[in-house]
Amino acid sequence: MLVPVILSGGAGTRLWPVSREGHPKPFMALPDGESLLVKTYRRAADLLAKGGEIVTVTNRDYYFQTKDQFLAARLSGQRAHFILEPLGRNTAPAIAAAALALRERHGDQATMVVMPADHLIRNAEAFGAAVEEAAALAAEGYLVTFGIRPTAPETGFGYIEAGTALNERGAARVERFVEKPDLPTAERYLASGKFLWNSGMFCFRVGTLLDELALHAPQLLEQASACVAASPVREVGAVLQQELETGHFADLPDISVDYALMERSEKVAVVPAGFDWSDIGSWGALSDLVEPDAQNNRAAGDALFIDSRNTFVQSEGRLVAAVGVENLIVVDTADAILVAHVERAQDVRQVVKRLKDSN
Ligand code: GDD
Ligand code: MG
Repeated sequence: MLVPVILSGGAGTRLWPVSREGHPKPFMALPDGESLLVKTYRRAADLLAKGGEIVTVTNRDYYFQTKDQFLAARLSGQRAHFILEPLGRNTAPAIAAAALALRERHGDQATMVVMPADHLIRNAEAFGAAVEEAAALAAEGYLVTFGIRPTAPETGFGYIEAGTALNERGAARVERFVEKPDLPTAERYLASGKFLWNSGMFCFRVGTLLDELALHAPQLLEQASACVAASPVREVGAVLQQELETGHFADLPDISVDYALMERSEKVAVVPAGFDWSDIGSWGALSDLVEPDAQNNRAAGDALFIDSRNTFVQSEGRLVAAVGVENLIVVDTADAILVAHVERAQDVRQVVKRLKDSN
């Protein structure tokens, strides 16, 4: 039994002013009008035949928005199971809670496909094929990652060094998993040609995940077990809703699954991603989704370019006119406007930090 588990938690601060605390990245509409979360739900449903179940782990403050998105995706009979966190504790507690909840209802053999809600994958067929391959390796007891061919020494990603081959299509045991290396290390990994980026999606059996947590993060597993045991599942209409009990959940450490498990386990495997992938990390990645004009300007919404080059404009209704400018990112919303140099797209997160600090 395959169960997609959608993780929806991060704030996406580099996509300010559209991504906000109350309206984070997964809810953001892309230039085609559809949100990343709706796209993720569709992608998850495509992995299942009619029916099945899709788990979402998210903060309880986002419950209604998330449920709306699930309905907006108009899936073919999949049941929703919402696991609601009282606060953010990063991905290891979120994934552990999902695994424990699934074990209760479906046993150790259920196969989880962990999918962040803020990724964009357009080639659904290739994605389906990669998941099928991953599920076969998960059945052999591996924690399967999906590897992306790196194009730059990105320090915001995990790096995977492939070892012994597991099949003829490029799947391999993972020799080494290094989460977010520093720049010189990332440069070295890139130059070696031996590393892949970790996509942030995973596939494993519930039983494998829990066994590996017992080995490498026993305390986290114990705390997560106590929490899930204190958090009954309620049937509310057609959906299952499980509010994680605050006291126990707050005891859990704030740690990602990459650090808590993937760097430590010896059962990690990698399937090379035969699909396009973007984690839409910044306005640069988002603007790439829009067709450029002859001067490499891109418009999402109403924009007018005069003697301008290499400029991206997103507007929510007003006309934005750019005259004689180049290399800009301009994002217009009802209460805030971003104007940034294209090479500073990563630094937009500093705006959020500054606003927080001054509050
Ligand atoms: N429910 C829940 N609760 N979801 C969370 C939480 C949480 O506390 N924290 C993060 N998430 C969700 C995010 O919304 C995102 O969809 C996903 O889990 C990954 O979290 P990020 O915070 O975006 O991780 P990252 O981008 O720094 O790193 C991960 O992804 C990279 C690829 O995008 C790692 O897996 C890296 O190794 C990987 O390269
Ligand atoms: Mg991310």
